[in-house]
Amino acid sequence: MFKGRDIVSIKELSREDIERIFEVAEDMIPIAKGEKKTDILRGYVLATLFFEPSTRTRLSFETAMQRLGGSVIGFSNPKATSISKGETLADTIRIVDLYSDVIVIRHPFEGSARLAAEFAEHPVINAGDGAGQHPTQTLLDLFTMAREFGDISGLNVALIGDLKYGRTVHSLAYILSKLGANLYLVSPPLLRMPKHIIRELNKKPVETDKLEDILGEIDVFYVTRIQKERFPDPTEYRKVAGSYRITAKLLSSAKKNAIVMHPLPRVDEISSDVDPLPHARYFQQAFNGVPVRMALLALVLGVV
Ligand code: NCD
Repeated sequence: MFKGRDIVSIKELSREDIERIFEVAEDMIPIAKGEKKTDILRGYVLATLFFEPSTRTRLSFETAMQRLGGSVIGFSNPKATSISKGETLADTIRIVDLYSDVIVIRHPFEGSARLAAEFAEHPVINAGDGAGQHPTQTLLDLFTMAREFGDISGLNVALIGDLKYGRTVHSLAYILSKLGANLYLVSPPLLRMPKHIIRELNKKPVETDKLEDILGEIDVFYVTRIQKERFPDPTEYRKVAGSYRITAKLLSSAKKNAIVMHPLPRVDEISSDVDPLPHARYFQQAFNGVPVRMALLALVLGVV
């Protein structure tokens, strides 16, 4: 069912696909922690092609592959490759496809992962295409919520911050709504969720720029960074920089079992006084990237 599949957009995954990924991810947790050893991916090569900065996504894919006994090639500095000599993305992909069994790509242009998937015979996994999609982040976000609350249906989830340029919230809004969560979209007016994404939601979300008004209703605060690098105009960025800040004081009016998530990196959206609180889930969330990506690699390579 998964063998050979590309993972480009969260929209291509059914509810059953997601359940299967989570079932495998659950079994991967002790391996991700290094408590159990395996080599089910021995002899397989993963290529990680990162045309944009990354810490968690690239390293968690790499550790996922290595913990399963596979090996990794790739780059995180495209300037050091033939791309700087003018090689096209299509040619780069054709070649990397000859050297590896599965390709993970992050690229600044929307649609780049789809293009890569067209040129590669092997499975391509999208690790973020511009302001487009970031499906593996969405899967680990959902996995984190599902482990915490069980059912996603009926959960009150606030997506907070840069809803215009943030790709993680674009993938996440779609799937949360499909699974029956109630969405609250909290952003400055300049950074509202694009209309084409809102139109695809099952239920009309609550849109506001005042977090205080909805604070007591929320189960999951999903906070995002203002995506400075995607602003065409730096003065526009300055207008919205620092719009939201989650602090321990603010959370004192939140539900007792509410959790705070963030795809990371954070800049100043979550104050460090939240870190020791029982609400903080962003580091656990970042860890969950490993078992979820292990599950994806094992599934698309057809070994589970
Ligand atoms: C996110 C991204 O790259 O979209 N980071 C990540 O993958 N965890 C979020 C961000 O950069 O703000």
